[in-house]
Amino acid sequence: MDTSLIDREKTAERLLAASAKHSFDPDTELDWDKPFDEDAWYWPPELVSLYDTPLWKGMSQEQRIELSKHEAASLCAIGVWFETILMQLLLRHTYDLEPTSAHVRYALTEIADECRHSKMFARAVTKMGTPTYRPSRLDHQLGRVIKTISTTPGAFTGTLLAEEILDWMQRLTFPDERIQPFVRGVTRIHVVEEARHIRYAREELRRQMETAPRWEVEFTRLSSAQAARTIARSLISPKVYASVGLDVARAVEQARTSPHRRDVMAQSAKRLMDFLDEIGLIKGPSRRLWKSSGLLG
Ligand SMILES: [Fe+2]
Ligand SMILES: [Fe+2]
Repeated sequence: MDTSLIDREKTAERLLAASAKHSFDPDTELDWDKPFDEDAWYWPPELVSLYDTPLWKGMSQEQRIELSKHEAASLCAIGVWFETILMQLLLRHTYDLEPTSAHVRYALTEIADECRHSKMFARAVTKMGTPTYRPSRLDHQLGRVIKTISTTPGAFTGTLLAEEILDWMQRLTFPDERIQPFVRGVTRIHVVEEARHIRYAREELRRQMETAPRWEVEFTRLSSAQAARTIARSLISPKVYASVGLDVARAVEQARTSPHRRDVMAQSAKRLMDFLDEIGLIKGPSRRLWKSSGLLG
């Protein structure tokens, strides 16, 4: 075995051991029957899309908390969409590989994690009692295209985009005492299990980029920059604004032009963008597309 394959197996063995120790069953881990606290936030206010905008300043505390609930529910429902794509990409990754390897065993473990997460997110949406927010029809179709045509480096870049942005937000959420205990529980489970997924994807992507042919590198730069645009704009469905009685066009415009929001999005992706830049994914004509995702500061 060459050294990069030995490293790959070592990482997978470590991740399998960590999974055996720290994995959760959300169905039993969380208290699904406990009612929500009346005046707790569902998401940190600073991470709500309208925070600090003129509209926000005119909203009552109740309406702000209500918006935080709908945005948390949007992230959960969109999370199911992301994970459905990731599970397919990961399963496809194993197709040509040795099924007895630790690397494949870990991929299957990760898929099992994502199955539990998606069930947890869907159940959380039901508990919050909001509509099921979905990506736009265009992004839903783009997701289908991306998951169908991505080769391995694109698959892991897309995985990291979805995982690291949400991870950054969730790391601010689970320790925050202003937040509903239930939401803190959901985000804590997710942060613990996703840390392993991020490690697995980063290491695999770095290896893939070292050996990928030129055409694949160019293709991955463009397809993943497009994935970044789709992911960033899908996180919060515009329908959340209608749900709390706001004018949708005005709210979308204020979120889009909010300097605070821009800063939050760029910060959420900062560590990942540095990594993708380092391994050569943000170069040439793709740079403008990356910029337009709002994730590249
Ligand atoms: Fe997940
Ligand atoms: Fe994950």
